Amino acid sequence: MNIKETFDSEAHEYDFTSRAVNIYFDEALDTLVENISITKTNPRILDVCCGTAILTEKVANKFPKASFTGVDFSTGMLEIAKERMKNYNFTTFVCDVCDSEKMKELGKYDLIISSFGIHNIHGFNNKQIALNNVLAHLNAGGQYLTCDLLKGENKKENKHFFNFQKEWLLKTYNKKETKDWLKLLSEEDDPETLQNNLTLLKNVGLTDASLVWKKEFLAIIKGIK
Ligand SMILES: C[S@@+](CC[C@H](N)C(=O)[O-])C[C@H]1O[C@@H](n2cnc3c(N)ncnc32)[C@H](O)[C@@H]1O
Repeated sequence: MNIKETFDSEAHEYDFTSRAVNIYFDEALDTLVENISITKTNPRILDVCCGTAILTEKVANKFPKASFTGVDFSTGMLEIAKERMKNYNFTTFVCDVCDSEKMKELGKYDLIISSFGIHNIHGFNNKQIALNNVLAHLNAGGQYLTCDLLKGENKKENKHFFNFQKEWLLKTYNKKETKDWLKLLSEEDDPETLQNNLTLLKNVGLTDASLVWKKEFLAIIKGIK
């Protein structure tokens, strides 16, 4: 299965697996929301790789008059997102964020957010293409906030991260299930180091991209265009 098919098939369990698999899931998303600072009462907000819109809903609770677009290539995830966001001004856009032509169809946004998504795009260059496509839609002065997995700076740190992920999974799953998850994650995840993440954003023209929060291999980075 490719990544899109995996998310399509897992969509109905994602509310559960997102917490069982992703370290500090709610704490990280809540911290991202706390770090949003916009003064407009009805901002336009884009959630990149929005999945089932768990982050989108948390942001909508804070900015109920905002209009939201959720981009994702998994229609299975987006179906659940639509249901979750039915009481808000929310539209979906089915698109691979690496598809530079199709991404041009999006409008402009005051805030762009993303959580646990960009690391699914394999390779630094493909991530650069995706972020160029995404951040072309951020208004001047607009904010970008992302919460995503990090690769360690060296073998020792990567070993520690692997063991931390394993222990996190073992809180929910048995040994066999944990082994299966670790195999899937090793195939599907391709996180970048913190420095590479900052470089990707600098290359897109975010002048002051910086780390605002970090726990183990999870980080929130914020930048202004
Ligand atoms: C781990 S989920 C995160 C979903 C959500 N942001 C959250 O925090 O719960 C990753 C999401 O990214 C989407 N995704 C991965 N690669 C993508 C790509 N190249 N283009 C669009 N969506 C992508 C997947 O379909 C999936 O819904």
